[in-house]
Amino acid sequence: MQARKISDGIWWTGAVDWDRRLFDSLIPLPDGTSYNSYFVQGSKKSALIDAVDPTMKKVLFARLNSLNISSIDYVIANHAEQDHSGSIPDILAAYPNAKAVTSEKGKALIMDLLAVPEDRILVVKDGEAIDLGEKTLQFLYFPWVHWPETMLTWIPEQKILFPCDLFGSHLASADLYTSEESLLLPAAKRYYAEIMMPFRTSIEKNLNKVTGLDPQMIAPSHGPIHKNPKFIIDAYRDWVAGPPKNLIVVPYISMHDSTRLMVEHFVEACADRGLFAEQFDLADADTGRLAMLLVDASGIVLGSPIVLAGPHPKVAYAAILANALRPKATFASVIGSFGWGGRLVETLQALMPNLKLDFLPPVLAKGLPRPKDYAAIDALAETIRTRIIAP
Ligand code: FEO
Repeated sequence: MQARKISDGIWWTGAVDWDRRLFDSLIPLPDGTSYNSYFVQGSKKSALIDAVDPTMKKVLFARLNSLNISSIDYVIANHAEQDHSGSIPDILAAYPNAKAVTSEKGKALIMDLLAVPEDRILVVKDGEAIDLGEKTLQFLYFPWVHWPETMLTWIPEQKILFPCDLFGSHLASADLYTSEESLLLPAAKRYYAEIMMPFRTSIEKNLNKVTGLDPQMIAPSHGPIHKNPKFIIDAYRDWVAGPPKNLIVVPYISMHDSTRLMVEHFVEACADRGLFAEQFDLADADTGRLAMLLVDASGIVLGSPIVLAGPHPKVAYAAILANALRPKATFASVIGSFGWGGRLVETLQALMPNLKLDFLPPVLAKGLPRPKDYAAIDALAETIRTRIIAP
């Protein structure tokens, strides 16, 4: 396994995880992922920017060995999560002169999570730089992309940014670069939805730090390297700060088809009014796809029967997920069916306290939906039309 040169004195030493299908025991990875690591050789010193998931450390060592490296001076821990930093203890053991370089908060995390000894850690402040000789590593704090300790590494001489998780994608590929932007965009959006969307306010505040650098290349720690940084920066700008789109997400479950009939009527009622509503059956759902829909959605309409006196647990899960992901949606409602009663609407509302949502009147049918229930669904669609299109 060879290291792959990406620029003068900089090599990719990462690992492609073709077969991984779940991240954090939560996030589906239909396309696998990669853990990108980069070795930088200056005229005086060398550095490794991020490492790899511990399951892939043999690959990292094989690529480093292909460069005949006898020592590494710095191991940059941009982010303490184990998929990047989990093999740093092995690197420090193999290269006894190396120091792990991280932010102030990163120091505590790599000591707590990875048992890195304090005397092997060098803390850098926001904006601080390390001179490798004809190459500088500058560190920019960028908290909450994905954890609070995260920093980006910038090499000004070559205008390459190493932002760790930010701008990444869970996409296993033999191609190190973004050769097909149309293929990359869905993977990058899915990754943004699953990993970055909860932090969109922080990203929006800090995005100008990145554009101000005018990078020529962005080399994240998951997925392809961006030779056209504008492509991914523009996509992020839209995802974090663009207005919500004409899209209503309708996650639902139906046990005996009454709720399904209501959901299908709602989706058609929306289409009749020029609204795009996407129904999403939670019975066998790809939650990553649900997260992607939430990136642009104006509203969330949950469809659930009342079961055991409350929402169907899979709909409750969708509400909890939406609450955690903090999408831009501005309104929500509930439609569904019941046999005898329970607390459906109140329970679902209470599961989404993080979202600034206007709750529109719910539509609940006793048993099979009747004409009055369909009329109420039409009225809900009309209310939404006045919000999204025009009064
Ligand atoms: Fe790829 Fe937050 O780790």
